[in-house]
Amino acid sequence: MFRSKTCGELRSENIGESVTLAGWVQRTRKMGGMTFVDVRDRYGVTQLVFNQETNSELCDKANKLGREYVINVTGLVAERSSKNKNMGTGDVEILVEKLTILNESLTPPFTIEDTTDGGDDIRMKYRYLDLRRQSVRSNLMLRHQITFETRRFLDQQDFLEVETPILIGSTPEGARDFVVPSRMNTGQFYALPQSPQLFKQLLMVSGFDRYFQIAKCFRDEDLRADRQPEFTQIDCEMSFVEQEDVLQIFEGLIQHLFNEIKGVSFEGVFPRMTYADAMKYYGSDKPDIRFDMKFVELKDAVSGKDFVVFDSAEYVGGICASQCSGYTRKQLDELTEFVKRPQIGAKGLVYIKYESDGSLKSSIDKFYSSEDLKSIVSLFNAQPGDLILVLAGNKTKTQKALNELRLEMGARLGLRDKNVFKPLWVIDFPLFEWDEESQRFYAMHHPFTSPKPEDIPYLDTDPGKVRANAYDLVVNGVELGGGSIRIHDSKLQNRMFELLGFTAEKAEAQFGFLMSAFKYGAPPHGGLAFGLDRLVSLFAGLDSIRDCIAFPKNNSGRDVMIDAPSVIDASQLEELHLILNLPKTENA
Ligand code: AMO
Repeated sequence: MFRSKTCGELRSENIGESVTLAGWVQRTRKMGGMTFVDVRDRYGVTQLVFNQETNSELCDKANKLGREYVINVTGLVAERSSKNKNMGTGDVEILVEKLTILNESLTPPFTIEDTTDGGDDIRMKYRYLDLRRQSVRSNLMLRHQITFETRRFLDQQDFLEVETPILIGSTPEGARDFVVPSRMNTGQFYALPQSPQLFKQLLMVSGFDRYFQIAKCFRDEDLRADRQPEFTQIDCEMSFVEQEDVLQIFEGLIQHLFNEIKGVSFEGVFPRMTYADAMKYYGSDKPDIRFDMKFVELKDAVSGKDFVVFDSAEYVGGICASQCSGYTRKQLDELTEFVKRPQIGAKGLVYIKYESDGSLKSSIDKFYSSEDLKSIVSLFNAQPGDLILVLAGNKTKTQKALNELRLEMGARLGLRDKNVFKPLWVIDFPLFEWDEESQRFYAMHHPFTSPKPEDIPYLDTDPGKVRANAYDLVVNGVELGGGSIRIHDSKLQNRMFELLGFTAEKAEAQFGFLMSAFKYGAPPHGGLAFGLDRLVSLFAGLDSIRDCIAFPKNNSGRDVMIDAPSVIDASQLEELHLILNLPKTENA
């Protein structure tokens, strides 16, 4: 028997018991004639004691143990004289009688402790060692709990878990596909699914009624802290439902997870906000509503005073930061630099300080009298001590920049507490998004999303005005999930493809199977998908979803541990009839 107890299990009740433990050497300390060894496994750490006086041979063996050696010990559980309150097993130690080295270890390239000396790259290269660290392991344990509770909840609600294929066909909409050449079908390619969208809709046609899947999805897009090229969705679909049914069921799932796992319950139902309001008040379709600081539109109030920046702007808007009128020149310059960063793109920043004594100071004193400024600050319901920050320019860009500034101010003011959770449904998304570059409409969600019935007449006259039966769940400014009620009528679906610029032939080639399925009695249906990685990160308070994925990719989409992607053999290329036409490098 390798072990009778785990390294996280022993308490003072076990004092006097003889136990056998197995695990990894975390560290060894020599103090006088005593040697202390911390042994670790998945469950915790236990202190082992070796005494030179009582058993010098055993103690000598212990002194030779290196970090991360795999050992097996038998001994007596004893009370610890200096107890460690930070350790679950901190009241006890093992007086070791027998020590077996099960395996030696090279010295690890970084210390396997919560605060490690290993940088990101080295930890990713040796991810199997990184995963021995308690902080990383606990993220994976949380992930297990979340998937487990998700399955339990959905099973109780009659959802069936059905697997759908990974090798599918490429579709032109959405993100870029990852493609896989087919050896048996020369010159043809599979694509990896960006989501199981079409399959889950086909399952509804098959009568499966309530489907879910913890599904791997693949998207070849630029990576960010909340994006990985392969990620996991809690993917769901239901038949005979309207938007309200879907929102209720999945709000139930999220409430269940918060309750069971975080011990957090929410009063009443989750608030809802239309996309139009989200953009107007927060400049984002995923507003962080942990704090207020809503946008106030100022165009009318500030025009006509010969301030050309405001007069010529399509949009002028501002936010009010409470108790920030004391901001120094340096702090204001910092904020100006912040909004002028290329990724934010504002041209400059205007401020109005509503000083504690009631006076007003601003960077636009030359153009606006103190009466003018007073009427501006009143639009914000500002109080003495507040600071108004204003941006102006193109509407979409300025709202986006003001969103960034709002989030920055929220962070500076400590209003984005990771232990506070504020969920929000964003609803009534537009059906289409206009792309200036290609001069065409794109589906904002995907081409299978249904328009609101009352907006269908605009499909012919003003497609940009059509709202969709689409919704996102946002928590603390993170888009956790999204979905829609689908089109189940092949005529309307065809019209949608037409508006998206598909010819009848192209639509048939890409989605003929779906159109054909819709002719055999498709039920009304809808659903959504949550990003599991984002959900776990939110619960764990992580800054990047990488930290809750066992073997993640880095920012260039590489797995540095297995060194993928990699070059393949010429014989493999030949078998696939592929010839590489690589761009010339500078050195070539
Ligand atoms: P959508 O594209 O909105 O919808 O994706 C659903 C959720 O998946 C997560 N997500 C990601 N997580 C990590 N890395 C990524 N690259 C990534 N991309 C998306 C987000 C997002 O909210 N088929 C539809 C759903 C439906 O209509 O039912 C879909 O995939 O949390």
